[in-house]
Amino acid sequence: MAHARAPHQSRCAPEVSVPENESTTAQPGLENLLHETRSFPPSPEFAAQANAQPALYEEARADRLAFWARQANDLVTWRTPFTETLDWSQAPVARWFADGTLNAAYNAVDRHVEAGLGDRVAIHFEGEPGDTRTVTYAELQRDVSRAANALAALGVETGDRVVIYLPMVVEAVVAMLACARIGAPHSVVFGGFSADALRSRIADAEAKLVITADGGYRRGAASALKPAVDEAIAPKEGADPTTVEHVLVVRRTGQDTAWTEGRDVWWHDALESADTTHTPVWVEAEHPLFILYTSGTTGKPKGILHTTGGYLTQAAYTHRNVFDLKAESDVYWCTADIGWVTGHSYVVYGPLLNGATQVIYEGTPDSPHQGRWWEIVEKYKVSILYTAPTAIRACMKWGEEIPARFDLSSLRVLGSVGEPINPEAWMWYRRVIGGDRTPIVDTWWQTETGAIMISPLPGVTAAKPGSAQVPLPGIVADVVDDEAHSVPNGGGGYLVLSEPWPSMLRGIWGDLERFKDTYWSRFPGIYFAGDGAKKDEDGDIWLLGRVDDVMNVSGHRLSTTEIESALVSNEIVAEAAVVGASDDLTGQAVVAFVILRGEHAARAADADGAAAVQTELRNHVAKEIGPIAKPKRILVVPELPKTRSGKIMRRLLRDVAENRTVGDATTLADSSVMELISAGLQKPSSSDD
Ligand code: WTA
Repeated sequence: MAHARAPHQSRCAPEVSVPENESTTAQPGLENLLHETRSFPPSPEFAAQANAQPALYEEARADRLAFWARQANDLVTWRTPFTETLDWSQAPVARWFADGTLNAAYNAVDRHVEAGLGDRVAIHFEGEPGDTRTVTYAELQRDVSRAANALAALGVETGDRVVIYLPMVVEAVVAMLACARIGAPHSVVFGGFSADALRSRIADAEAKLVITADGGYRRGAASALKPAVDEAIAPKEGADPTTVEHVLVVRRTGQDTAWTEGRDVWWHDALESADTTHTPVWVEAEHPLFILYTSGTTGKPKGILHTTGGYLTQAAYTHRNVFDLKAESDVYWCTADIGWVTGHSYVVYGPLLNGATQVIYEGTPDSPHQGRWWEIVEKYKVSILYTAPTAIRACMKWGEEIPARFDLSSLRVLGSVGEPINPEAWMWYRRVIGGDRTPIVDTWWQTETGAIMISPLPGVTAAKPGSAQVPLPGIVADVVDDEAHSVPNGGGGYLVLSEPWPSMLRGIWGDLERFKDTYWSRFPGIYFAGDGAKKDEDGDIWLLGRVDDVMNVSGHRLSTTEIESALVSNEIVAEAAVVGASDDLTGQAVVAFVILRGEHAARAADADGAAAVQTELRNHVAKEIGPIAKPKRILVVPELPKTRSGKIMRRLLRDVAENRTVGDATTLADSSVMELISAGLQKPSSSDD
């Protein structure tokens, strides 16, 4: 549907629409997948010592619910044991382990200290400027307890929402656990999001407190964070007064920071005066643990809701089995930011529940040099590394002589997440980083699934470069056609999850109908993930990217509609259409086609004018959503291709964006439009960052 200035018709569009006349679009490298026959079985030594053995599949197949009950009892400590594993009577809202009670922070921290492991390092922190900090489980317990007392002193009660807007520092982990300790759901907002994005998330969750920092270090400079919070909660015409009562501020960079007396409180002051012990609040298994906003197919982000018992069970189970974690000896490092779900499940809850020792790094992989990650692997003897294909491709581009300068022999398991990994990048990751020795686990999951769903098991599965392969024991997934029939091996279709799983989302914050529409209406009674997939001749699953209007840029989900809304909110834009075009580095790149409003149309008449318009609109999107959403290219066009029903034919725009011959345009309302677009385009200029 066209995204015109007014009315915002797309708001009425179905949440998940498989575009007319469009088949699933393949990601870079995946066109060759049927020719991909390489396979890498684990070494006999690795297989013999692995946590997960083939029997795990058999156990789960024999009795799935009994299997999950065992995981919940083995991996989580319950205050009150549960008696019922799954209540699916209110489908699609599941209740797992519902009559059990527990506390997430107790499970992540206290029980390890009680077991005599207080001196074990929980976190090796590496700041971008090179400052370091080591935090043991005993120290973490004291800090989390202090922070929980500080939150309570600021009036935060069980059930209140707290927004966390922080860089990747130890305090981010402490803040999340302190919320969990008092049963106050956290909503982490990625530090790269703008004040406007932050405002809408604070308002939707009606947050009482925001935890932020003066700033963080990025690419060698201190970058301020608190001003965005000040702007996000300042009175604004047409907006309700903010629900935020206090702002708790971590001092990270020491930069000058504007202060509102009575509202703003320094983190170090609040913690200093707080008691070092705190009794966790025991909550029911279905008590909300967090909300995490993610892009959907409309302009309004969805607050994905996760609860406590089932989420923790699956986070711990997958972390232990997919990464083969040996808590006594491994050093684990997941490079994700806590602003994304990967940071929730595989920096905070999974690793800490399992008592792991992990590395947290504040900055970017190329600061101050392109070997920074490999230097960190060598320094801390990292043995398990979990990262994203986009980062691997960036390292490939920088050249393999850079990692070759460091000793990476400590690595024994490598993981990938966030987007399909093309076989070429997979092979490079294994050879250059893994020394041709380490298993690679390509893990498919989503913010909504809470934890890994489809992945090889490193000691069991013969890994195929580019395939996530098999649902984990306890998970039931399939690839189906339009009528929800399972496709045969060799066929392609839609990825679905046919049985409930413990860490599944429990809804969209404040919008049960949207939850049902978005995930459960395409195939009634079955969860539709929004991804296209294929089964190969062995029945292994290959992910093919999104089939809805969601893009995946560097492993981050961005909605085409959200960026279109941002563009048309600029006064010079009449209409906008956004597509994700294949990009060698970032998987997909945002490309926007805009029609300027009449009085501004002449501005893009020459190359300089077009460049100025592009810069202005890119900055506008950065302000509205955040720098990650900036279009790589913005093309000013006279018309957009639409079907007779007014739906934008993105397939044709993708052809233009990817410099291909434009495909079949016969269903266009006006078939001359594509000629007009192609004729009017100057040679596209690429972005500056
Ligand atoms: C994509 C990130 C292929 C997919 C954990 C999914 C993947 C979306 C993979 C979720 C993978 C994630 N192979 N595609 N291994 N992992 N995706 O919510 O399109 O940020 O629907 O969660 O990323 O993104 P989200």
